[in-house]
Amino acid sequence: MGKSVWKPGTVIYPVPAVMVSCGDIEGEKNIITVAWTGTINTNPPMTYVSIRPERHSYEIIKKTGEFVINLVTENLAYACDFCGVRSGKDVDKFSEMKLTPFKGNVVSAPLIYESPVNIECKVKEIVKLGSHDMFIGEVVSVSVSDEYMDETGKFHFNKSKPICYSHGGYFGLGKQLGTFGYSVKKQKDENKPKKERWRKTGRKTKNKKEGK
Ligand SMILES: Cc1cc2nc3c(=O)[nH]c(=O)nc-3n(C[C@H](O)[C@H](O)[C@H](O)COP(=O)(O)O)c2cc1C
Repeated sequence: MGKSVWKPGTVIYPVPAVMVSCGDIEGEKNIITVAWTGTINTNPPMTYVSIRPERHSYEIIKKTGEFVINLVTENLAYACDFCGVRSGKDVDKFSEMKLTPFKGNVVSAPLIYESPVNIECKVKEIVKLGSHDMFIGEVVSVSVSDEYMDETGKFHFNKSKPICYSHGGYFGLGKQLGTFGYSVKKQKDENKPKKERWRKTGRKTKNKKEGK
């Protein structure tokens, strides 16, 4: 089996598909589905959305200097697709998809109430790249739905059933394969007798207890 060589293109998949809300909660508002998005810095928290200038949302975001990234769950997949194939020039996507505009903490753009995570952003820079302009945004507020919060205040995002977009399709996430760092975590084999466990790791239980 060989390999076919394709012309250079954007084939990094899966990616998130997010619903970006923009405009003014009191006035004209819109939603655009965006797959070209991601985290670009941790501190300060920075993100981007790449948008074609011909999109209705483009001018709104450029004018207001604000946008909100709303993460998408399985329940929102249909609305996410709709917001990516219909223009705000022609339809009110909030009312058409029965989505609730919700007041932001910092920005005037509406959040989508039904989304479990709303990331409010202020545009810091617009980078012209070719087909798309990249709006680099600083995250100025994050709201999460109480629904996925446990009594200790821990947020269980994966319980909201997030989706991703891969090569033309929307997918749920499927089964979890591990957690951060699991590849290097020491395996605890509780069924083995203590002596054998010691032999396997080459570490003395005594030393471990002493913290050496
Ligand atoms: C899954 C998906 C991902 C998309 N990603 C982008 C994107 O990253 N950038 C972009 O400009 N358009 C993207 N689009 C297309 C816009 O969402 C679409 O043209 C939309 O109708 C524009 O809405 P508006 O005219 O109301 O702004 C995507 C569409 C879909 C369905």
